[in-house]
Amino acid sequence: MDIKVIDTPLGRHRSGAVVLLGVQGQSLKKSAGSCGRVYRDGYTTLEKSGAYAGEAGQVRTLTGGGKERIGNVVVVGLGKGDQVSHEAMRHAAASGVRAARELGAREVSLVLPEGKGGLFRADRLAEALVEGSVVGLYRFETYKAKPSEDGVDCLNVLAPSGKLSAAKRGAKEGRVLGDAVCFARQLGNEPGNTATPTFLAEEAERIAGEHGLKYDVLEEDEMRELGMGSLLGVAQGSVEPAKLIMLTYEPKKRGNKRVETVAIVGKGLTFDTGGISIKPGAKMEDMKFDMCGGAAVLGAMQAIAGLQVGVRVVGLVPASENMPDGASYKPGDILKAMNGTTIEIRNTDAEGRLILADALAYATSKMRPKPKAIVDLATLTGACVVALGDGNAACISNTDGLADELLAAAETSGDALWRMPISDTYRAQLESPYADVSNLGSPGAGTLTAAAFLEKFTGNVPWAHLDIAGMAWTQKKSGNFTVGATGFGVRVIARWLQSRG
Ligand code: BES
Ligand code: MN
Ligand code: ZN
Repeated sequence: MDIKVIDTPLGRHRSGAVVLLGVQGQSLKKSAGSCGRVYRDGYTTLEKSGAYAGEAGQVRTLTGGGKERIGNVVVVGLGKGDQVSHEAMRHAAASGVRAARELGAREVSLVLPEGKGGLFRADRLAEALVEGSVVGLYRFETYKAKPSEDGVDCLNVLAPSGKLSAAKRGAKEGRVLGDAVCFARQLGNEPGNTATPTFLAEEAERIAGEHGLKYDVLEEDEMRELGMGSLLGVAQGSVEPAKLIMLTYEPKKRGNKRVETVAIVGKGLTFDTGGISIKPGAKMEDMKFDMCGGAAVLGAMQAIAGLQVGVRVVGLVPASENMPDGASYKPGDILKAMNGTTIEIRNTDAEGRLILADALAYATSKMRPKPKAIVDLATLTGACVVALGDGNAACISNTDGLADELLAAAETSGDALWRMPISDTYRAQLESPYADVSNLGSPGAGTLTAAAFLEKFTGNVPWAHLDIAGMAWTQKKSGNFTVGATGFGVRVIARWLQSRG
């Protein structure tokens, strides 16, 4: 899809469809009128009848009957002015361009909404509209015999002349983030029989080539030499070989400024049956999404290469299946992680923490230079879905400064985070009579005991854990998203890294 930012006045612009966004109580009559008389009259009728009032989520379409310069006009409500956010604008743009696509438009034009204050800065607006559109238009049709015939080939953003360069800058960021989110969604939606650890490694190698990243992978024999018994323990029941995928982003030199290194780690469990502690059948198919933390890391690596952030970033994805088999690890087994910690397995379904343990230990003990911060993302616990549902991912950190940075990035990016605690109460629940630690806490606070487990593998590096179990995929079709993987985490990580350098 081509994306252009232009300053052609709406009154002279030609397009398949124009999408107008407005806050509640703001009339779009003037803009609609600029699209043609039919639209001015049509809009007036909508407004008078109360069919359109700018309420959040309201999408109304007007057709020109083939007689106008503009094929269709779509008006989308942003909701109350004091409650509008950039995320609301992304959702509105997504709904608007989807409606235009349904009407058959192949060229769609968005007009920057008017308003006062920081929210209406042209760069941030263009970013939100483009990102929302790119994400909103994504469809997963890889396995459909008949893919949809409609589709948007060209997206225009109409900006006033004085704001053109700011809007262009923002649109570029929006495209980078939108594409990276769609890449993560595509990986998440791929079924378990395609998206194996080997496939994730191939995809990582592909994007490394396309975006100038360095690609490395640790194979099982190398993991064995490094003593990664925890990751290997999970993988031993699967015929698919495990991989520890690594991508490195190297920023361009900026004078003599010393660049810092940070690591991001994502759970790449390509299918979670639970293993010997097998899961019930209902909804087990959703466990193809158990690699969405890994997909978010790969997507974030693509995004930061596009945004050219100023820090050196290493992305690690421990990838494995969790299967029941004669060779599987079992409850009662004791595994030894790379940092020497022995782990009593009480439940083979608490496997995410086990594959992350070795990746975290590797990042904090083997990486040179040593990372200044490490953030992991994982669909780690069903308990997190109970606690926060699909409204927020949990952010658990032993370093307040890092948590604050992530929460700030969450705010601008649209990926919502809510901080949860970590303390000795939860750490104590992991005691084992047989090994250094158990992989299962006592009942209660499952998200927090899982985090406390991960902490044991982070050395003294400032660390934060994002449990994205409730956010990684959705059954709803609304705003930015359609059913399936959401790409959650890509945006907050990209914005966080941007804020660090
Ligand atoms: N991948 C699951 C967590 C999950 C479950 C995410 C449902 C999203 C929806 C994870 O590996 C798991 O099975 N966790 C167990 C941990 C328990 C055995 C301590 C869980 O949450 O039940
Ligand atoms: Mn599990
Ligand atoms: Zn899992």
